[in-house]
Amino acid sequence: MTQPQSNPAATDAASPTVVNVDAVELAPSKDAVVIIDQTLLPNRLEHIDLQTPKQMYDAIFQLKVRGAPAIGVCSGYCYYVLARQEAQQASSYQDFVARMQQHRDYLNSSRPTAVNLQWALDRMHAVTTSHSDTNLSDLVDLLEAEARAIHSEDVAMSEEISRLGASLLHDGDGVLTHCNAGPLACLGYGTGQGPLFYAHDHGKEVHVFADETRPLLQGARLTSYELQRAGIDVTLICDNMASLVMKNGWVQACMVGCDRVAMNGDAANKIGTSGVAILAAHYGIPFYVLGPTSTIDRNCPTGDDIHIELRDPDEIKTMWYAEPKALPEVKCYNPAFDVTDHNLITAIITEKGICRPPYTQSLAALFDD
Ligand code: MRU
Repeated sequence: MTQPQSNPAATDAASPTVVNVDAVELAPSKDAVVIIDQTLLPNRLEHIDLQTPKQMYDAIFQLKVRGAPAIGVCSGYCYYVLARQEAQQASSYQDFVARMQQHRDYLNSSRPTAVNLQWALDRMHAVTTSHSDTNLSDLVDLLEAEARAIHSEDVAMSEEISRLGASLLHDGDGVLTHCNAGPLACLGYGTGQGPLFYAHDHGKEVHVFADETRPLLQGARLTSYELQRAGIDVTLICDNMASLVMKNGWVQACMVGCDRVAMNGDAANKIGTSGVAILAAHYGIPFYVLGPTSTIDRNCPTGDDIHIELRDPDEIKTMWYAEPKALPEVKCYNPAFDVTDHNLITAIITEKGICRPPYTQSLAALFDD
């Protein structure tokens, strides 16, 4: 079979790129979190402001901001913006802590699977609870610094993950990826797709097969958009075509992000990921999971302990269609994530290094210091 031809538009240098646009930022006025509304892509690149707890919750729940690291950065800034508001209202430090605890719990309930959400909110709240002797105005300044630190650490970690991931690729390799773990999901280069951008920026070209990623089409709407805009050769495929492109010999590596990694190496990522890993094992293709150490859940021994988010059946039946594609009474099962068994993962690439099996040892060693 003939490989799909490179799309000449992929090298159109005049195309706008999102690679250097922050998917999440603090407004210059500091009274809002500004995000790219990812649900509007690829047709419109628009920013929206988040100021109220409900706007923040909805933006995360509705996937206007999504991707584990971006959700973490966003929730850190959300916590800060709310802290700024509450510092004006709170009658005492204890009252402030109680209000912020409510906000933390509310935001944390928006999506259960990506551990970065809880991680960032807990990190922010720890600053609040550990400064009982600080006046509220100074405490709010400390919270701003913490939220900005989460953001800049995220950009740095994604560059390092991308560098390490790119070292596993050869010029001319075909890489299959699933969902979106590029700049929109992570800030900076990204994780699962970061090596593709990094390799491209450093003179190594890869051919990417992007799974469309049913049902919310992150691969079609976001990944192919980001790669195309960056001038990287990308071919969009339906999820059920992955086996064929592997069989054809067009894929030398699979790279995906992750939302929560258990200490035995089982990794939750977008629904469909574990199927890709099973196919990759069948065809003898290395399968890499990429994510920051903040995505490794030290309280989670195995994938069985990961809570999988179930979403609205309408995402399958109606969301993308002019008319429903199933009878209203038809039952749907719509888990947002699945867990890839650690036995199927060739390596887990973090900003602290490349972990290989046995993961119970290599992941634990990341936290030794
Ligand atoms: O439901 P989403 O779109 O937030 O799911 C995102 C994914 O599964 C990504 O692959 C994962 O968050 C890694 S992003 C760096």
